[in-house]
Amino acid sequence: MSNNLIIAIDGPAGSGKSTTAKLLAQKLGFLYIDTGAMYRAITFLALRHSIIGNSDKIIKLAEKCEIQVGFVNGETKIIVNGEDLTGKIRSLEVNKNVSNVSKIEGLRKILIKKQREMGKKGVGVVMEGRDITTVVFPDADVKIYLTAFIDERAKRRAKEFLDTGTAISINEIKKNLEQRDIIDSSRETSPLKKADDALEVDTSNVTIDEQVNIILNEVKKAADEKGIKLNINN
Ligand code: DC
Repeated sequence: MSNNLIIAIDGPAGSGKSTTAKLLAQKLGFLYIDTGAMYRAITFLALRHSIIGNSDKIIKLAEKCEIQVGFVNGETKIIVNGEDLTGKIRSLEVNKNVSNVSKIEGLRKILIKKQREMGKKGVGVVMEGRDITTVVFPDADVKIYLTAFIDERAKRRAKEFLDTGTAISINEIKKNLEQRDIIDSSRETSPLKKADDALEVDTSNVTIDEQVNIILNEVKKAADEKGIKLNINN
């Protein structure tokens, strides 16, 4: 068992993982790691090199990538081989291809290894993705599975796009989310699913503060059990 606290959060796109995980990490002073950003960065590079569909080349590309994921000024910052890809990984093109790239077993092996190394750093870590509670850290101190109705998830993603100045129809977003849900949860290697011992939190009808507090209570219990003193910021 690790000396630090590991909080693992999984769930489908738009379920509120990032918002919740960021706030939680800020309150706890823990590292926040958005593993989706890693799959997105590799997808962006695969598109740039026109190697989408070629698993061997994508694995070779990932082997050569030195990936740094951080959290600066309220957003995930991702730097690959010294190049800042932060503003490039959330495009519609990346959205359309990322689930298929994420199916590649050899790529997952590489990224999971990096994620496990990152999880050991700092006093604690909040890591979110699709297989954190099931594969990356099945023994995490707190395991959460976030869900929300598809219409609510599409609405949230549409707002995110609008905030960055891109107007996309809710229907188009909904279609992309549904396609990603199917691919992410039916793939052979580490599919998206709720771990038996994860706490399921439906975020459709709760406020962000409420969902953060539900998880915070779980973290407090886990910290007590490990004899770790938390310094919670407001
Ligand atoms: O959380 P997100 O929407 O940024 O993730 C983008 C894609 O990355 C998602 O559709 C599936 C993949 N992913 C994954 O397979 N495993 C993870 N741990 C995180 C993301």
